[in-house]
Amino acid sequence: MVKHIVDTRQFKDRRFLEGLFEHAAEMREARFDKGVCHLHDDKVVGGLFYQPSTRTRTTFETAAIRLGAKTVFTENARDFSSAAKGETLEHSLRAIEDCFDVMVIRHYEDGAAKRAAGVLRIPFINAGDGKNQHPTQALLDLFTIKEYFQKIDGLDIGFVGDIAQGRTIKSLAYLLSHLKDNRLYFVSPISLGVPEDMRTYLREKSIQFYETDELDAVISAVDVLYVTRLQFEYVEDEVEKRRLMSEYEKFQITLEKADKMMDGSILMHPLPINTEKSEGRPEIRCEVDEHPRAHYFKQSNNGLYVRMALLDVMLSGEQNPLYSLILDVP
Ligand code: NCD
Repeated sequence: MVKHIVDTRQFKDRRFLEGLFEHAAEMREARFDKGVCHLHDDKVVGGLFYQPSTRTRTTFETAAIRLGAKTVFTENARDFSSAAKGETLEHSLRAIEDCFDVMVIRHYEDGAAKRAAGVLRIPFINAGDGKNQHPTQALLDLFTIKEYFQKIDGLDIGFVGDIAQGRTIKSLAYLLSHLKDNRLYFVSPISLGVPEDMRTYLREKSIQFYETDELDAVISAVDVLYVTRLQFEYVEDEVEKRRLMSEYEKFQITLEKADKMMDGSILMHPLPINTEKSEGRPEIRCEVDEHPRAHYFKQSNNGLYVRMALLDVMLSGEQNPLYSLILDVP
């Protein structure tokens, strides 16, 4: 049966995570090897991005190319596909699926990934759907944690920022809740706190989690501080936007704040970081980029290896034992 990747709840089987991370580390070593470069040279990977993307699109497309596959990626599908003529996502996908062996799609609507999985007969990977999920970001985040701490259990992880609208936090928090003894700390303005569906899920998993709007209480107590930007694109009202921006200011990571982090802890961010240009103030000041705790560029580059490993699994299908460990779409 064809598999799709929509949501991190499909990765409850620990053997999948361990196998994928081992494979990602192998891909990092072997990415220039001739063998790897020809693994899938009979395949074509399609990418449709209906929302802006730098890292996700580039690392997916490069991952496919490094595995030998050809790629057809549309980087502005909202304007340059038949979506601009009002075509439904379902029709667009059904009309072209025979072109590809795997499709990677990013869409601005919550639940678009599930809709894509509902119609596609070829494997599909969700590269982010609205405020909902971004499963491959969570995989590369957890791979980064694994590489640094040599473990994925028993960690204290602080999430800072737009918990309500950020799909990366939701995806990673779900993934961490399937593992052992991780404790999660959510730090946000009250109005951008943990959404009810997420709270219910974490409670069901009996995970220890705490919610606060005080960064100081958490910053010096966690192994990982995972900061995210205010997701402006989902806030239409200008007055509300300005209010949220000013509430966000007290969470800004300055050099002084980074110094408060524990030795051996890491500062992560899925990127991009807001700037004055994106109407916001940076949630991590750029001086922090060179701080010993800063780990976000390493994290982002890990996306290439995790996506190479995952595309290899999806392009190999049943021939790769990890494929059957991906659970059904919830
Ligand atoms: C994230 C996303 O698109 O959800 N970016 C990414 O893929 N690394 C985070 C964000 O845009 O804030």
